[in-house]
Amino acid sequence: MDLHLQGKSVIVTAASKGLGKAVALEFAKEGACVLISSRSEAELKKTKQDIVAQSGNNQVDYTVCDMTKPEQIESLIKRAADWNGAVDVLINNAGGPPAGTFEDFSDEDWQQAFELNLLSFTRTIREVLPSMKKQKSGHIINIASSSIKQTLDNLILSNTFRAGIVGLAKSLSQELAPHNILINTVGPGRIATDRVESLDQKKADELGITIEEVKDKAAQAIPMQRYGEPEEFARAVVFLASGGNTYVTGQAVVVDGGLVKAL
Ligand SMILES: NC(=O)c1ccc[n+]([C@@H]2O[C@H](COP(=O)([O-])OP(=O)(O)OC[C@H]3O[C@@H](n4cnc5c(N)ncnc54)[C@H](OP(=O)(O)O)[C@@H]3O)[C@@H](O)[C@H]2O)c1
Repeated sequence: MDLHLQGKSVIVTAASKGLGKAVALEFAKEGACVLISSRSEAELKKTKQDIVAQSGNNQVDYTVCDMTKPEQIESLIKRAADWNGAVDVLINNAGGPPAGTFEDFSDEDWQQAFELNLLSFTRTIREVLPSMKKQKSGHIINIASSSIKQTLDNLILSNTFRAGIVGLAKSLSQELAPHNILINTVGPGRIATDRVESLDQKKADELGITIEEVKDKAAQAIPMQRYGEPEEFARAVVFLASGGNTYVTGQAVVVDGGLVKAL
């Protein structure tokens, strides 16, 4: 299948490592022009070099953008438009909120999670829409969590704001379909990244067991009997954001090895 991504202008936010980096690499392998962002310029520089080396595509660049800073989001989108004249694909990603239960968090914690995990996505979308509407096409993917289908214990901030992303995307899919702009949400479930490693370590410390024991138990609960690899997640995102997908919009899809049993 031709994914029609050659030369397309793609932005992947929060992409210095983990899922964002894996998604950016898959786009680069497909010949897209990929602009990555995160808070750390040093990390982005290394990630860009890695992606260019692994994909053989040197149309990869970076811009520092903290997803909680509206003026940096504005500069990021402007940079992509200046570089390629348009934005064809926006992949919204951000760092995860802290783990914890209701009584662990203050108003300030709720506000921070709202800004990082929901408001940031509305801001990037607002910035790319003029360009996508003008060319009468576009793909937007929001990276969320398997909690869009089934809540996760000890992650109340994630459970709350990921659900908000799904509502946002479903509403937008209705508003944007007449402009041929498709928007979907993809939820990872236990994909092996630093974020999952640190959540597993926290759990191991709380339970007084080793991280290997935590991982073994978690893997046993997954029908595929293992954690996913970032590349496996990235391939699903790239398909939904590509010219291969012309009719799937407003959907919330999990990439979780069968973990979530909800219909
Ligand atoms: N991996 C999974 O199985 C899984 C499951 C459920 C949900 N998720 C969610 O998926 C998202 C990505 O997860 P991951 O596993 O790839 O995490 P990760 O390995 O910890 O990577 C997080 C990325 O986000 C960037 N970042 C963090 N805060 C940022 C901010 N304020 N502005 C811009 N960039 C920021 C980091 O770069 P800098 O430090 O350079 O900014 C890094 O590139 C997170 O929201 C996570 O909660 C992941």
